[in-house]
Parts: sequence; structure tokens; C-alpha cells
Amino acid sequence: MAEAGAMSSERITLTINGATCELQVDPWTTLLDLARERLDLTGSKKGCDHGQCGACTMLVDGRRVNSCLKLAITLDGAEVTTIEGLAGPDGALHPMQAAFVEHDAFQCGYCTPGQIMSAVALVQEGRARSREDIREYMSGNICRCGAYTNIVDAIQDVLGSGSGEDGRAEEHQQGVAA
Ligand code: FES
Ligand code: FES
Repeated sequence: MAEAGAMSSERITLTINGATCELQVDPWTTLLDLARERLDLTGSKKGCDHGQCGACTMLVDGRRVNSCLKLAITLDGAEVTTIEGLAGPDGALHPMQAAFVEHDAFQCGYCTPGQIMSAVALVQEGRARSREDIREYMSGNICRCGAYTNIVDAIQDVLGSGSGEDGRAEEHQQGVAA
């Protein structure tokens, strides 16, 4: 009986893209499956489901994680941001999203949500200084289309402008929209 109890579902409170919700989750449900299958947030992709490709990258309490490896049950009280939560309330793209568009930093787009979430975290982490740094800190995000050069260009652009520091910089958005 004790073992059966240990496998029970639990109620957690999660703030996801600014909305707080209470959810009953099974112990084996990952954050990725919770988002995609129950919350209709299908932007984050399931590439490998083993922590190898980065397609499922989300921010949890401001840090990037492979959501396919994160059990939802461990996230009671956490704040999660997915690719759907990056744009402003008026739909204005986050500077990193705008830079990816501007630099044509995708082909099929499957890896793109994970690349962008990882890139947003990379800028906020404040460690990357050069293209080599960007390549190193983005090495957990695989692109089967090989769009790496343009991805690095996009990130370098945001890094150089400082517009990714607070997540959303108005001047940059206006500059891109202009
Ligand atoms: S799907 Fe999570 S790392 Fe590949
Ligand atoms: S754009 Fe196709 S996998 Fe990266």
C-alpha cells in the first residue's frame, strides 16, 4: 500500500506564461507532456524525449531546462515560460524572436522554439561574449537543418543590442518593426 501511495497523483500550482493554475499531475508526467497534452501549449517540441536535442527547452524560474526531463510533480509553485509566453500582450515579438526572423535563423522550424528559449536564457545569464561563447552555450540545442550560422547571427545581434536583458525592450521592437 505504501508503494501505491508513493505513485499517487498530486495537486500542484504552476504559473505558466503568467497564468496561475492548479493541476492534478501523475508522478511520471513531464513538464513537456503537461504543456503539450493538457495545456494546449504545443510550441515546445518533442524531439528526442531524452534530454539530447533541446527542442523542448522552457524557462523554469528563469533558468532553461529540458522540459522532457522535468517531472511536473516537482514544480509546485514554479514559474514556467514557454515560447508562447515570450511575445508581448499586444502580440509584439520578443527581440529574440524578431532577430530570428530578421536573420532567417530557421529552415523547418522544428528546433526553433527551443533555440529561442535557450537563446533568451543565454542572454539573461550574461556569460556569452563572443560567437564562440554563443556556440558553446547553445550546444545543447541541435538543429538538423544546420541553420547554426544564422542562429548565432540572431543571438549575437540581440546580445550586441542589449535588448534581450529584460526580456522585452521597446526600442528594439520598434526598431525591428520600422
Ligand atoms: S525533446 Fe527534450 S531534449 Fe530532446
Ligand atoms: S530549423 Fe530545422 S531542425 Fe532547426
